[in-house]
This record gives sequence, C-alpha cells and structure tokens, in this order.
Amino acid sequence: MDFLYGLIDKLEAASHLTKEEWVQLIENRDSQLSGYLFQKARKWQRRYFSNRIYARGLIEFTNYCKNDCYYCGIRRSNQDAARYRLTEDEIMECCHIGYGLGFRTFVLQGGEDGWFTQEKLEGIVRSIKASYPDCAITLSIGERTLESYQRLFQAGADRYLLRHETADTAHYGRLHPPGLSSDKRKQCLWDLKGIGFQTGTGFMVGSPGQTPSHLAEDMLFIRELEPHMVGIGPFIPHHDTPFANEPQGTVELTLFMIGLLRLMLPKLLLPATTALGTIDPNGREKGIQAGANVVMPNLSPASVRKKYELYDNKICTGDEAAECRMCLSRRIGRIGYELAVDRGDYPADAP
Ligand code: SAM
Ligand code: FES
Repeated sequence: MDFLYGLIDKLEAASHLTKEEWVQLIENRDSQLSGYLFQKARKWQRRYFSNRIYARGLIEFTNYCKNDCYYCGIRRSNQDAARYRLTEDEIMECCHIGYGLGFRTFVLQGGEDGWFTQEKLEGIVRSIKASYPDCAITLSIGERTLESYQRLFQAGADRYLLRHETADTAHYGRLHPPGLSSDKRKQCLWDLKGIGFQTGTGFMVGSPGQTPSHLAEDMLFIRELEPHMVGIGPFIPHHDTPFANEPQGTVELTLFMIGLLRLMLPKLLLPATTALGTIDPNGREKGIQAGANVVMPNLSPASVRKKYELYDNKICTGDEAAECRMCLSRRIGRIGYELAVDRGDYPADAP
C-alpha cells in the first residue's frame, strides 16, 4: 500500500495524477491513509489561511425553480414544496443583519426562478453593493447566458457558485432530466471564469450511481478548470424526489475528498458544508480538520428556512442568524480555529 502514500506525496508536490491513480487512491483508502492526507491538508490550510475560517452569509432568496434535478427537494415537480420568494427589501434586511454580525460576503442562492428577471437581479446586486461596498457578493443562481453573467459581473457581483455536479456525461444524465447536460454546465463554468468571477464548482459525494471512476473524473475536471472555490457535500435523499430511497453519501468519503482537494489546489476556498453538518453533528468541524476553510451560515429569515429544503433533516432551519453565527464561532473555537471577519477572497486575487 506504500504506493498510495506515494500518490499523496505526488499530489502534494503539485504533480498531476492520472485517472487511474485517482481511482486507486479513492478505492483503496483506509483510515491511516486518511490521517496522513488530513495532516498534510491542514499544513497547507495553515500556510495560506492560518487558523482563520471565512464566513459567508447565505441568503436563500427563492425556492422556485424551473429545473427538475432528480436529487433536489425544490425541483419543479415537487408539488408539496411550499414556495416563497424574498422581496428586495427582505434581501436587504438580511444583509443589514448579516453586516451587523460581521459578515463581509453575502451569497445569494436560489432556484432558477424567471420571476427574478435580469434587470431585477442586477438591481439587487447594485443595491447591495451601494449599501455595503466593502462586501463581496456571491451569486448561486444556476445556468445563464454568457451575456447575463457578464452583466451581473458589471453590476458588481464578485463570485459565482455553480457546481458541475458530476463531470461524467452519462452520470450527469442519471441525475438530471433530458435537456440538462454536463457540457452546458461546464461551459457555464468556463464562461464565469473567463469573465473574471471568482468561480466555484463542486459535486455531491455519494450521489446515486457514483463510482470512484466518476470521482476521478471530477478531480481531473477541477484540476483543468482551476476554480477558486469547490463546494462538496454528501448527497442526502429528499422524501419527495425520485431518489427518496437512495442511500446518502458518507462523511468518511466526503472528508477524504476535501483533503484531496486541499492538497491538489492548496489555495482553494473550500466550505465545510451544511450537508456535511446534517449527516454528522460534528461534520463541519471534521470538514475543517480535513482541510476546509469556509463556512456558510444561514442568513435567510427564519420564517422561510424550512422551505429551502434541498434534502431531508437540513440543520439550522430553526435558528435566527445571530444564533447560527454564535454557534459556529463556538464550534470553530473549540477546535482551535477562529471565524474571520473579512471578505475572504481567493489568496492570489486579494485586493
Ligand atoms: N439553482 C442553483 C444551481 O443549480 O446551482 C443553486 C441552488 S442548488 C439547490 C445548490 C446545490 O444544492 C446543488 O448544486 C446541489 O449540488 C445541492 N443539492 C441539491 N439537492 C441536494 C441533495 N439532495 N443532497 C445534497 N446536495 C444537494
Ligand atoms: Fe433547481 Fe434544485 S432543481 S434548485
């Protein structure tokens, strides 16, 4: 098994792994190898970020969506989802509360909801920028045209999150209805990066039908794209979707993938996701100890939290923003890290 340790050393030395090498690492991992990986991942995390964990205030502003992704609780076909949209005033109020709590990044996330026209979205971005010029705005609103992305960037958005979900075309087809394609998704990511957004991709760990070979393709795609952020979390079933009875992803494999990502692209902004915290009460802490350096506490009004239900048993749906913020800094402090109060840009691009 020594060659697996050699592969981790090779990764650390910034060498590219082949698809076969990725598969070997993922298939043959054990807890000792993970320990070796996490120790190295923490070394790089400390080198670039010290013990500081960046916080992003997440505003889930609409759960209407025209898409029908098989895994997603707010997919169009879910007739039982209670739909909501925040008004611009409500979004601004979330930012106001978030700013007071020390957040300097606001993440606007939602389904692909045509009610929010290009003009409305640009208006919201401009208003936030005008009120909080020292804050970064991250958008996570799905696939759009190049022109739309360009205009949102010009309006002041700094970052964009769009997970590629899976880099394998056939596996993408297993997770999405016809009409959505991995080629289109990847093209959007290239567009975003070309425009100048700090760009985030990512994937679910343990999504139905996923194999080590698919994960290897994810790593190859991420290496090629060289994004600034990568969001990964376990797949968790939602009771009103076609995947209701599929098994959820594991904490163990998610952590291993986080460690690999930290070593492969050491400056990455890498969140310890809510999904990880949902399947393990200490999931986010474990994510940080595996190399993650971002947390995204919820700033959405408590009244809508439960309605943005992507998967079952999502945590933090009952808390006020301030409680989430306090709870996270306590948790992070207990493991020797601190919550940073700044924009937390990608190291090379920091203004
Ligand atoms: N509509 C935007 C988009 O497609 O990028 C943003 C919202 S979408 C709900 C955000 C992410 O949630 C997706 O990229 C997906 O990876 C994740 N997600 C959706 N359903 C999930 C599930 N059942 N388990 C874990 N993650 C899920
Ligand atoms: Fe659109 Fe999930 S199907 S956000």
